[in-house]
Amino acid sequence: MHNALRAAAAAALVAAAGVLAGPAGAAPPPDYDQETIAQFNSASSVETIRHLAVDIGPRRSGTPQELEGAQYLAGILDGYGFKTQIYAFPITGNRAVAQVSSPNATLTNGPHWQFSASTSGKMTGTDNPVTGDVVYGGAGATAADFPAGSAGKIVLMDQGANAAARNTQVANAVAAGAKAVIVAATSLSAAGVAAAPPTVTVTPSYPDIPIMGAGRSHLDWMKAILANGPLTLTFTTMNYVNPTRAVVVGRRFAIGDPDGSKAPIVMVGAHIDSVLGAPGAHDDASGNGVSMEIARVVSKLPLDKEIRIGGFGGEEDGLTGSRAYVATLPAAERARFVGEWQMDMVGTPYAPAKLWALTPDGRSNFVVDEAYKASGRFGFTGLDNCKLGQSDHQAFFDVGIPSALFIWLDYHKPVAPATCVSIGQGQYTTEPEYHRPADGMNNISPERLQTTLDVIGGALAHNAMNRVDIRSNKPNTPVQADCGDGVRRMGTTDAAGALPDLRFPHVTCTIQVGGSSRTVAIAGDTPVSLTAADGSVGGTVPATLALTLGAPASFGAFLPGVDKPYSVSTTAKVTSTAGEAALTVSDPGHLANGAFSLPEALQVEIAPASWTLPVSNANVDIAFKQHIGANDALRTGSYSRTLTFTLSTTTP
Ligand code: BES
Ligand code: ZN
Repeated sequence: MHNALRAAAAAALVAAAGVLAGPAGAAPPPDYDQETIAQFNSASSVETIRHLAVDIGPRRSGTPQELEGAQYLAGILDGYGFKTQIYAFPITGNRAVAQVSSPNATLTNGPHWQFSASTSGKMTGTDNPVTGDVVYGGAGATAADFPAGSAGKIVLMDQGANAAARNTQVANAVAAGAKAVIVAATSLSAAGVAAAPPTVTVTPSYPDIPIMGAGRSHLDWMKAILANGPLTLTFTTMNYVNPTRAVVVGRRFAIGDPDGSKAPIVMVGAHIDSVLGAPGAHDDASGNGVSMEIARVVSKLPLDKEIRIGGFGGEEDGLTGSRAYVATLPAAERARFVGEWQMDMVGTPYAPAKLWALTPDGRSNFVVDEAYKASGRFGFTGLDNCKLGQSDHQAFFDVGIPSALFIWLDYHKPVAPATCVSIGQGQYTTEPEYHRPADGMNNISPERLQTTLDVIGGALAHNAMNRVDIRSNKPNTPVQADCGDGVRRMGTTDAAGALPDLRFPHVTCTIQVGGSSRTVAIAGDTPVSLTAADGSVGGTVPATLALTLGAPASFGAFLPGVDKPYSVSTTAKVTSTAGEAALTVSDPGHLANGAFSLPEALQVEIAPASWTLPVSNANVDIAFKQHIGANDALRTGSYSRTLTFTLSTTTP
């Protein structure tokens, strides 16, 4: 320890004027779990989601957009010091896709749309985009359906009801001189869900004319644009034959395991791919948005466990990316997994959705239990659990790795005597945007993303850190730890003097229990015993500066229009092993109530404020004084200010 050693604590000072009063408690210095949760910011997740769902757009597995998603995530993870690998797993079959944008109109949930590309029509190739104006040809059943001047245009039509009608409408559009044809789905489900882009097959084939299939939402959006002016589209059609699907995995190796061969592994995953035509903002750019923010925060901690972040392609093809990835893991590597928390659809504003932890067998498991515990650490009571496969957790579950799907869903839990274990795969109502072109940024809730971050990020960080069990001869005594960056309050020992299951990264900390302290290098799970008398352990006194503030102070009610001094006091306790120590306070400034500040400054008096000898649990009086003048304007509500008290020394 050096002379930089210092202890700081923040106290909130609260006073009330008028009818509203309410003291605010001083926030205790956080332990590592709380500190981690405090850093998660869903705004970062939203930006990741925006890049995937808007800048890249729909990410059908086997298309370049899925790979672009993987490369984007790899870039983020590289920046956080992860070692990343992009896998190219083979696909047998083809993906015929149109990539669509507009130079003159704002495409809803654009700028990139994906339509199906008909193998009955021309494939332009990705290097030869076609640009043309769109005309709407209705049903296209007769020549009269086409607007004058359809020649050279992209003709948009409502999809005919049967194969014969579709053959006729495309033939009519071609006869009218169309340079390309879009056949759009028209159906709405009973619940009002607009149909996805259809596969379009027509006879005869038109090798010179691109033919595409658009969704019902695309149709509505294009008609709305055409009602107000011209619509030009630029597109390519491409048939990818036996392409590859992208999976990205980032690994952050544990300290002491530089080649990543032995440390336990904690993993979060999400899927990159979307169904054809869907921007997949909720399903499942949202999961990656949360993964990347977890990666950012945990990558700041020195850890003895390996962190693994998965971005799986091919989920919508039947979990093929995650299954292929899991198949690459030798048994010894699988055995190192602590758990895999899969996040798929982790923050829709759809009101009936709740946060669920779903397992393929309907039973709770380690990752579910840890999610509940993490929820409890920040007071979230909304988590529920039941049974579902249908996402990449299944691939991990099937090889014996504890995993669960975390999802905001309107899931209908079975009615007793049925249980999650006895039912099939569960019943649920998905939000209307699910698997549709409408699954854009409007289907993202920052608040629900934040809850997911706190639950899953909290569980992941907790399990990535080292477990420390404190045993001492001090029952019911606060435990503090200084790991070089301030004093943390870790909790209170039980009646037997124990405080089990604390979490620390790979750090050296001075752990203090009621005046007894020990400096411990925490590496892996570490039991710590403190059984000596106050102030000494084994004949050495670790440098200690400890400051504990009393209850937050409140002046009570300020009376408007009355000239009056107000005063209130609190206490502090100081423990110092230094040759001398001083207690100072940050600039008291002015108490404020929103935009309104008191005209006169707050005054703070500390007595004593310095010591020339070591002290243990020395009492300090802290007096707060506030003068209110007869003409001082006061705003209804609470006036408050947070002050930081700093205990420091130059002779530790
Ligand atoms: N995010 C969904 C999983 C899902 C959807 C869970 C609806 C609960 C309700 C996932 O991307 C998906 O669509 N899965 C497929 C199954 C998969 C094996 C192809 C599905 O549910 O149809
Ligand atoms: Zn899906």
